[in-house]
Amino acid sequence: MGIRVLGTGSYTPAFQVTNDDMAKMVETNDEWIRTRTGIGTRHISDGEPTWYMGAQAAKRAIEAAGIDPAEIGLIIDTTITQEFCTPSTSCIIQREVGAVHAACFDLNAACSGFVYAMDTAHRFLKTDPAMKVALVVANESLSKITNYSDRSSCILFGDGAAAALIAYDENALYTSHLGADGTGAKYLFARSALPASPFVKPERYAAYDDQMGAGPEGWEHTMLQDGKEVYRFATHAMPKAAKLAAEKIGFSLDDLDKIVPHQANMRIIETAMKFMNQPMEKAVTNIEHHGNTSSASIPIAFDEAVRSGEIQRGDKVCLVGFGAGLTYAALIMEY
Ligand code: UT7
Repeated sequence: MGIRVLGTGSYTPAFQVTNDDMAKMVETNDEWIRTRTGIGTRHISDGEPTWYMGAQAAKRAIEAAGIDPAEIGLIIDTTITQEFCTPSTSCIIQREVGAVHAACFDLNAACSGFVYAMDTAHRFLKTDPAMKVALVVANESLSKITNYSDRSSCILFGDGAAAALIAYDENALYTSHLGADGTGAKYLFARSALPASPFVKPERYAAYDDQMGAGPEGWEHTMLQDGKEVYRFATHAMPKAAKLAAEKIGFSLDDLDKIVPHQANMRIIETAMKFMNQPMEKAVTNIEHHGNTSSASIPIAFDEAVRSGEIQRGDKVCLVGFGAGLTYAALIMEY
């Protein structure tokens, strides 16, 4: 009932913005950022688009898997920072990697996106015997929707991409839990472009704008968050998702070798590990070097751990995240 991970890959821009660089933009300092978040630096795109980063990560995953791209039957791309409303980013990645037989669509579950997409791909592979291999890509340029005058949020985010190729394996360990709480949508959001339609009456449009608030001037298309509410949600949602996934198959979290959490804040990770009764040594973390790259954060950490040997074949691994929506998701599998 599970999946085999055939290969992983990741890509991050070469350009980096350190905490000291941040301190030149807003009133902050390296010590505050490190102690409150665990972040030291973040990779930021100085030109490469989101789709390009995703395509690079996908090519590396294909190379690691050693398969012919024509074998890929499905591409799911997950992003909140795509260049185009249409076509989907997954179609562009298909073009770039030459996966000529793949069905393609994008999925938005914010920072939980990679886990949502892996679980969706698993369900496709399970029910369609002709679909042998799926490519899941997470790519983000959060710098495009970050307000660099807001010190409480701009220090958090980075850019990057990662990908995984998976195949269905009836005998492999697998369980998952996906969830959401839409009442928390107002705690973390970024607007799409305002309607360009000449028929829209701004006051009528605004009347539907009940929950989210317009945000201060200059924030129209950047991320607004209530950091404390998101923090509170995150520390409970990740353990909840992991426990509910494990309970479905009578699996004990104690039997996990590694947990790869969403890299949002080191303090969130530490608290979530405590609520799961798991030691910090099991947590895979790379937040110091990347910050929060939304849906790309879990697969970048996963790929780095695979390539460094921190995660080995046979390890039982939990991928667990939370994000805007508010969403949460966990999956447990054997690498
Ligand atoms: O993918 C999900 C994305 N979002 C998140 O994961 C956000 C989750 N929340 C958090 O990670 C934390 O709430 C933050 C890192 C955003 C904030 O940390 P905090 O420990 O909750 O700080 P705070 O908001 O309680 O602020 C404490 C103080 C405030 O000053 P006063 O009012 O006590 O004088 C802030 O103005 O720290 C100040 N502050 C800063 N100081 C220096 C806020 N940001 C900064 C900063 N540098 N960058």
